[in-house]
Amino acid sequence: MKPNGKIKLALLSMMTLASSYALAGTYTETFRPQFHYTPAKNWMNDPNGLVYYGGKYHLFYQYNPNGMTWGDMSWGHAVSTDTVHWTEMPIALNVEKYAPGQVTQMFWSGSAVVDSNNTSGLGTTTNPPMVAIYTSYYPQALTLANGTSVQAGTQAQSIAYSLDQGTTWTQYSGDPIIQLPPSPYQDQFQNFRDPKVFWYAPEKKWVMVAALAALHKVVLYSSKDLKQWTFMSEFGPANESIGAWECPDLFPLPVDGNTSNIKWVLVVNINPGSITAGSGAQYFLGQFDDTQFVADANNVYDSLPPAGSTVFQNFEGSSYSALGWTATGALAGQAPARETIPGMEGNQLADTYGTGDSSVSTLTSPPFTITTSYINFLVSGGYHPYDPATYGTSMDTETAVNLLINGKVVQSTTGSNGIELVWRSWDVSGYNGQVAQIQIVDNNTGTTGWGHILVDDIVFSDVSKQEANWIDYGPDFYAVNSWNGLSGGRRLSIGWMNNWNYANTIPTTPWRSAMSVPREFALKTINSQVRLVQRPVADLLGLRGSSIYTQTTNTSLFSSNMVVPVDNTKGEALDISTKFKPGTASQFGMKVRVGANGEETVVGYDVKTHTVFVDRSKSGQINFDPTFTGRYSAPLLPSVDGSIALRVLVDWSSVEVFGGSGEAVLTSQIFPAPTSDGVAVFANGGTAVLQSINISSMNSSWPNQ
Ligand code: FRU
Repeated sequence: MKPNGKIKLALLSMMTLASSYALAGTYTETFRPQFHYTPAKNWMNDPNGLVYYGGKYHLFYQYNPNGMTWGDMSWGHAVSTDTVHWTEMPIALNVEKYAPGQVTQMFWSGSAVVDSNNTSGLGTTTNPPMVAIYTSYYPQALTLANGTSVQAGTQAQSIAYSLDQGTTWTQYSGDPIIQLPPSPYQDQFQNFRDPKVFWYAPEKKWVMVAALAALHKVVLYSSKDLKQWTFMSEFGPANESIGAWECPDLFPLPVDGNTSNIKWVLVVNINPGSITAGSGAQYFLGQFDDTQFVADANNVYDSLPPAGSTVFQNFEGSSYSALGWTATGALAGQAPARETIPGMEGNQLADTYGTGDSSVSTLTSPPFTITTSYINFLVSGGYHPYDPATYGTSMDTETAVNLLINGKVVQSTTGSNGIELVWRSWDVSGYNGQVAQIQIVDNNTGTTGWGHILVDDIVFSDVSKQEANWIDYGPDFYAVNSWNGLSGGRRLSIGWMNNWNYANTIPTTPWRSAMSVPREFALKTINSQVRLVQRPVADLLGLRGSSIYTQTTNTSLFSSNMVVPVDNTKGEALDISTKFKPGTASQFGMKVRVGANGEETVVGYDVKTHTVFVDRSKSGQINFDPTFTGRYSAPLLPSVDGSIALRVLVDWSSVEVFGGSGEAVLTSQIFPAPTSDGVAVFANGGTAVLQSINISSMNSSWPNQ
């Protein structure tokens, strides 16, 4: 049917409306975050070019202007005067192609500075240039306009400048400004990226930190003019040195607010292989001596078992049964594997590969009595978490190491879809005197490469074996970086609220990926250890609607599995502050985005293991990727008065938990039905006291909402 004139006109005006809307975004779509930045449409990953200038926060980001999955990487751009209300700007740096589908240059992650003294000569002192320093990715061998030849797959560092506050950009004619990694690492030209540059006032120079991703190193350069760079030093591998090291950051912070006690923080993002598998971020505290970052000795962890530990099992033996372990399935009658795996101890280890990834097996230890505070072990292999709902059934597809007490799983760790063994620890101080067994379960029949798990060196000790300092213990906080240009020593950071494990398949449209809430970073001494702590940006308060439920008198929560709807409070976007006092309950906490359909996201505290956890296994849509479901936990000791403080930010597709003073943070995406908007508190298997709770609604940060 041909539209008549009138309909045609109506259609046309609808189309114009639609396209102007598409640019502005409607921001009411299912799962559209209401107070987290998202582009109106298309794919986004890492935050880039974070710089504060002229009263505006700039947020550039990895952006695909042409699709909803990673590709055609360009720099998107948004600005804000308060870090919560963002205006999307035109694309800053647009992918370059010589023909459709033929990319000559992508603009990968990097940073931005305001060159106030015009050291680069790219602007004037009256109109200083904003300079972006980023990775040029050249997929094909190429001779650039300035005559420089680059090899296929090169990741080199380039600059571009803007003379109109970041709106339009010109690439520097001498790009790339660093074409190859420093010697002797020049063969790493395909894994050299993510320059973070900042002004180092004591020496009046620019400092760059960039990643040699595959070597698990960061390299430091200096420059007087942002164009000529001198290699200064390197750091790494150290602590979590698996997957790729990406998007480093380096900045000073006072300890406990004392400006005469400064430590430098080196942030290194890792993918895959972080604490929750997939993407994550670690940090090191140390000193920067004008040239080099040196981590504090107590921030670098060796790969040995903790001093004074007792080896429970190192899997050196002629068979599992000779070691006292019961082996079933493909491992029945077998011996521990003889392999050379990075990080392994001795000549043998437990490997459930068996006859292939599709084979299943279990290895069960003899019973033992728990007498120490921690069980530490090396683990690698498939990421298929223990799921209480399917455990022991034909639906159980886990690859996990479990601690069993009275036949119940009380602790569980899975692999991270990588081969390198990493240390993981369980706090078992709450189970002293109890008889336990360790079970290594491979119920995964997957044939995609990670249907098995590897374990070595199970040791008992009174200290936990720390592998790394994690910034966030949730699955969705990556490529974290901080703003340049803030005064008063303020360190504001933001992360990409996603995980490479499933980033390309999350069920959102017409955009994909959000940023975390911006967070103020600080250093605080907690239990005589200096820790990085975070809290949501204070400006968030501007979005706080009315308090919809408050209670400040102690309320006892009791009985088993008790769940109390909080006075019929409902909300899809909430800011919740709570304080609990542990009692006899093994777990307590709250549930958010609770629905009549059985959906719920649990934010709780586990008393025996001293951990705050988020369980999103029933949070809503989880089946778009097998690694999405799960339960994540962060160590958190009660504060001096014995209470547990939890601040929880709930948005249409995320939950961010800030435990204690902000030392235990977990960021998780969730995809619940819009009707799942209930809030409840709970205690399991005993009592707990809810000391206070305040629930405020969060207003939308988008215009016209
Ligand atoms: C991290 C990352 C960076 C790279 C960018 C490309 O998520 O892999 O190392 O610069 O994404 O989009």
